[in-house]
Amino acid sequence: MTDRNNRVPFDEDNYTHNINRNNERMLDRRGFMKTLAGAAGVFAISSLPWGAVAAKELLGLGEKEYPHQKIVNVKDIAIGDSVDFTFPSDHDSAILIRLSERKYVAYQNACTHLRCPVYWVKEENEMVCPCHHGKFDAKTGAPTAGPPRRPLPEIQVEVRNGGVYAVKVKRYEA
Ligand code: FES
Repeated sequence: MTDRNNRVPFDEDNYTHNINRNNERMLDRRGFMKTLAGAAGVFAISSLPWGAVAAKELLGLGEKEYPHQKIVNVKDIAIGDSVDFTFPSDHDSAILIRLSERKYVAYQNACTHLRCPVYWVKEENEMVCPCHHGKFDAKTGAPTAGPPRRPLPEIQVEVRNGGVYAVKVKRYEA
């Protein structure tokens, strides 16, 4: 009687006899690299447009339209005066300034230095940040003095039916 447990197995009993480990590893590596390259390609192509959008957003060059929001009636804001409002969300404080009969400008008024609220000083004809004496040009939102380096995000406004409406936010345009 043969004790099957105490003999060297025949070739056909050896279930690993047909594996060439080096080739198997090479195939694995090659296969893996192909899969990786394919996945990277698919990802790059599929994310291209979104990457561009994200880059634009991150660089602050976006211009985004929101549901139009009435800020004030034309008759309720005199030339040289300002009105505070929020846009597009209740957390985005903003300021509308009437510079002339037909010229209105609006900005999100969190200072681009450390986010203190910027306000309009009619007598000095400029927007001022009280925290570190930052100043901004009311016509463009560009910083003119103090530590801020970036312009205030501009809110585009439209005048219609006797009212001034906020329609878009334009960020960091030089
Ligand atoms: S927070 Fe406005 S100047 Fe510093």
